[in-house]
Amino acid sequence: MNARIIGTGSVLPKKVVTNFDLAEIVDTNDEWIVSRTGIKERHVAIEESTSSMATEAGKKALEDAGMTAEELEMILVATVTPDYVTPSTACMVQAAIGATNAVAMDLSAACSGFVFALNTAQAYIRAGIYKKILVIGVETLSKVVDWTDRSTCILFGDGAGAAVVSADAEAGIQDFVQYTDGAKGVALQCDARQHKNLFGTRAFENEYVQMDGQAVFKFAVRRVPESIQKLLDRNQLTAEQIDLYVLHQANMRIIETVAKFLKEPMDKFPMNMERCGNTSGASVPLLLDELNRAGRFKRGDKLILSGFGGGLTWGSIYMIW
Ligand code: UT7
Repeated sequence: MNARIIGTGSVLPKKVVTNFDLAEIVDTNDEWIVSRTGIKERHVAIEESTSSMATEAGKKALEDAGMTAEELEMILVATVTPDYVTPSTACMVQAAIGATNAVAMDLSAACSGFVFALNTAQAYIRAGIYKKILVIGVETLSKVVDWTDRSTCILFGDGAGAAVVSADAEAGIQDFVQYTDGAKGVALQCDARQHKNLFGTRAFENEYVQMDGQAVFKFAVRRVPESIQKLLDRNQLTAEQIDLYVLHQANMRIIETVAKFLKEPMDKFPMNMERCGNTSGASVPLLLDELNRAGRFKRGDKLILSGFGGGLTWGSIYMIW
C-alpha cells in the first residue's frame, strides 16, 4: 500500500509585507530581492500562530478529502517554529479538530520537514500500521528572524499547508530518497531557547536565524538535482515523463538550476515564492494545495516533490496523483 494524497488545504496569515515595506526597515530594495530570490512579498503572522494555522490547513485538507477528524489514525506536523516546547503542535491540532482516534507528533527537519513527514506517513502505511494520516507543514518564521538582518529577513514568510493521505494499492508515493548531513548544520542555525537556570546563564549564540546563504545555495543546487536524478533512475523514468515538479520555494534561481540540470521547461516547476517567500516546511504543501485547487493535477499524473534546507536535510518523492 502507498500513501496517496486525497485532500489538501493551506492558510496564509492576513498581513502582507512587501519588498517595499522591508526597504523602509533595512538597507535593501525590491530590485535586489526580486533578482536574487524571486520574492516580492510574504505573509507575516500577527493574529495567527503556528498551531492555529496548522489547524485551519488541516481542517481544509480533511474537508477536501471528505474525511472526518475521527477517522484519522495519525497526525504528523513538520515545524521548526512551534508555539510550545510541549504540547507538540500535532497534539494541539488533534485537540482543536477532535481527532480523538489519532496519535499525534511533530517532526523537525526545517525546509525538508513536510517531505520527511510525508515519507514517515508512507512508511506507516507501507508497514500496514495506519491507513489514514494527516500531514501538515507549518511555520511562523517571522518570530525567529532578525528583522534588522537584511540577508535573512527578506527571505522568509509564514504559512501552513496540509495533506490527508490514505492507503492506496496503486497510486500515491512510489518511491522516495531522504538524506541529512549534520556535519554541515552550521550553515543554517537558530538556538531553541536560552540556556538559563538557577546556577548560570549562557548567552544565545544564534537567537535568530543565521544563514550562510551561499553555502546553502551551493548545497541546494548540487543535492536537489542529484536526489531527483536518483529517483528517476531507480524508477526507470526520464525527466520528461514527470508532469510537475513541486520544489521547496527557497529561491527562484535554485529552481531554475534544477530545471536546467534536468533539461525540463520552467512551466513544469510551478512557483509561489513571489507571493509567499520561503515558508520553510510549509512551502511544499502550500504550493501543492494551490495547484490542487487550481485543478493542475489529474489522476495518474507523475509528480516529484523536493525539500531541502537546515540540518542539512534534503529529500525527494516520486508520486502518482
Ligand atoms: O530554505 C532554506 C534554504 N535556504 C536557501 O535556500 C537560501 C539559499 N541562498 C540564497 O538564496 C542566496 O544565497 C541569498 C538570496 C540568501 C543571497 O544571495 P547571494 O547572491 O548569495 O548574495 P550574497 O549573500 O553573496 O550577497 C551579495 C551582496 C553582499 O554585498 P557585498 O558584500 O557584495 O557588498 C550582501 O551584503 O548583497 C548584499 N546583500 C543585500 N543587498 C541588498 C545581502 N542581502 C541584501 C539585501 N539587499 N537584502
